[in-house]
Amino acid sequence: MASLNDNYLKLKAGYLFPEIGRRVKAFNDANPAAAARLIRCGIGDVTEPLPAAVVAALHKAVDEMAVRSTFKGYGPEQGYEWLRAAIAENDFRAHGLDVADDEIFVSDGSKCDCGAILDIMGASNRLAITDPVYPVYVDTNVMAGHTGEADATGAYAGITYLPCTAQNGFIPEPPKEHVDVIYLCSPNNPTGATASRAQLEAWVKYALANRSIILFDAAYEAYISDPTIPHSIYEIPGARECAIEFRSFSKNGGFTGVRCAFTVVPKTLLASTASGEFKPLHPLWSRRMTTKFNGVSYLVQRAAEALYSPEGKAQVAALVEHYMGNAKILVAGAKAAGHRVFGGVNAPYIWVDAPKGHTSWQAFDRILNESNVVITPGSGFGSNGEGWFRVSGFNSRANAEEVSRRLQALNW
Ligand code: MLT
Repeated sequence: MASLNDNYLKLKAGYLFPEIGRRVKAFNDANPAAAARLIRCGIGDVTEPLPAAVVAALHKAVDEMAVRSTFKGYGPEQGYEWLRAAIAENDFRAHGLDVADDEIFVSDGSKCDCGAILDIMGASNRLAITDPVYPVYVDTNVMAGHTGEADATGAYAGITYLPCTAQNGFIPEPPKEHVDVIYLCSPNNPTGATASRAQLEAWVKYALANRSIILFDAAYEAYISDPTIPHSIYEIPGARECAIEFRSFSKNGGFTGVRCAFTVVPKTLLASTASGEFKPLHPLWSRRMTTKFNGVSYLVQRAAEALYSPEGKAQVAALVEHYMGNAKILVAGAKAAGHRVFGGVNAPYIWVDAPKGHTSWQAFDRILNESNVVITPGSGFGSNGEGWFRVSGFNSRANAEEVSRRLQALNW
């Protein structure tokens, strides 16, 4: 008798974005006229075309693949050396950070890497996860059997939840108790909050003292404009001994549909074996990638490389400026409508309080039905997200302006 992975049965709700999609489809089917007015500020998906440097690199790579002498078959599972070198040089060494080319592992997405990394982590680690949180961190641990069952509030046994509230500016302090694996995301999805250097120093100090590992999701680092905020966990001394960093080309290069990201696993990062011996994680991740992954396509890696050319860098900066211009308009609109607003300054997401008496989903339904705008309900990111909603700045300028107007016109 074949058995299934019982851990999947512990998962509480459907993944947040499919549930939003279901409600939006029901709305569209019932209101075809309003559907034409619908503006989506829900899932953080980019809207602007690929940078011209990327398009040129893709065309060139296609031409190479069309000729026997330059055709490429399987590439290195960890990524082509030239892309790993471009990443390590531009994103790290140019900023004085000690990251070697072979500590970069190119992949098809940070979401995938956040789940895949659990292959090399022990099953009995005590996890610390913020609330609210990008749901992937929780659900992948549930699927891997790294948690117990959920209680009536939806909290899983085996996870130490770190409350993120307006009081702590949505950035948690290290817990009093011991945890083994810590998920941090800065700039934060969903709240748009960013961790200061001092806050990251406190986390690195905690991780070193507890021999914990920080899984640092920096997928939105390109949106940081405040020069005091770290772009990488490796800006904090000691982080090479306690942190893995996830980065993505989705939100800076507009690669949500192209698919390319990378993970940094320092060779100096050790974790304990079952018998208490400390060993490096780097060879395990390399082994995992060579066994379960055949690498990102040559075409896509050439496209990613183009983001580091002078033209590519300028085009990425223009995209970031565009989306942050939207965020600014949305922040101003939500504030003018009387909402309390966080984020939208060093992140493309704005985090807005639902008017009193409204749950996040009630706010979602009213904004959908009355303003014909799709947002993301904060409670979908965790119980501390209840009473909040997230508005994404990924849109055209005209749509951002229209959403700003509609938020102000909604009569709560
Ligand atoms: C989001 O809307 O939270 C993101 O688009 C999800 C993701 O990047 O996977």
